[in-house]
Amino acid sequence: MVSVSQFDRDRLERLYQVAGVCERIAAGETVSRALAGRLLINLFFEPSTRTRLSFGSAFLRLGGMVESTVDESFSSMAKGETLEDTIRVIDGYADAIVLRHKEKGAAARAAAVATRPVINAGDGPGEHPTQALLDLYTVLKERGRIDGLHIAMVGDLLNGRTVHSLSKLLGRFEGVRITFASPSILAMPPALLEELSAAGVSWRTVDSVDRAVGEADVLYVTRLQAERFADPAAAAQQIAHFVVSRDLLERAGRSQDLTILHPLPRVFDLSTDVDSLPGAAYFRQAHNGVPIRMALFCDLFGVDPL
Ligand code: NCD
Repeated sequence: MVSVSQFDRDRLERLYQVAGVCERIAAGETVSRALAGRLLINLFFEPSTRTRLSFGSAFLRLGGMVESTVDESFSSMAKGETLEDTIRVIDGYADAIVLRHKEKGAAARAAAVATRPVINAGDGPGEHPTQALLDLYTVLKERGRIDGLHIAMVGDLLNGRTVHSLSKLLGRFEGVRITFASPSILAMPPALLEELSAAGVSWRTVDSVDRAVGEADVLYVTRLQAERFADPAAAAQQIAHFVVSRDLLERAGRSQDLTILHPLPRVFDLSTDVDSLPGAAYFRQAHNGVPIRMALFCDLFGVDPL
């Protein structure tokens, strides 16, 4: 599971049906033993809170076991071992591997040498497919549909892997429009825009948040991926004009009817005075990560959750 391109609409719809059942298990209403005896190994070589813990929670909620390593400096890669050799070894311990790595393409390299499912939990500025699965599930729950929606994405669109996966996945739906708002130095990669056009997605770019929120149904805010820059100061200065605040939403007349998402963590990009608006869905979005990842494990292992 390295890219959203592995998900067509049928597979997505099945996943969302199973996620509905998994919500009841995640809430403790019923107990699952679907993955009893199976072991997940989490390999996180970049910082993470919600992705690692929600993958772990998902596997545990299905009755499985979880082992994690969280820092490259504590792994044999610090001794010079290649990613491929590390994966070949862990492949013999685990029934599934979740990998977060700083290099684009790392998950595909791992999947190429593994015999067990490898799940991409973020490969540098590449993709973050499971985040996109939970983002769209959240849109579906908050808005009741995905077809025909207008989604605005704001922030570091160059390095933000969540917006890369999400915009590609939106190409599976009908009549979707996307507005991209970022400083020009942090714009969506041109190759990705071409891919969207080829998939029939209607998109435009704008140079301010005000212009992005005007007609959108959903506003997807992201932070500056400061860790991708040798010196993030110039980019930080530019992105400071793309902060989403309550005042901005009120002035645009959009404080009551806009669904606001963020993959989190936020820094200065989304002010906390937005949190009490009815459409501020980002903590609900984070919580959806557990049932979605449970549904994904059911899909990968070919089991029912109950
Ligand atoms: C995102 C990531 O790691 O790409 N976080 C997450 O998994 N929810 C977004 C980010 O770090 O900005």
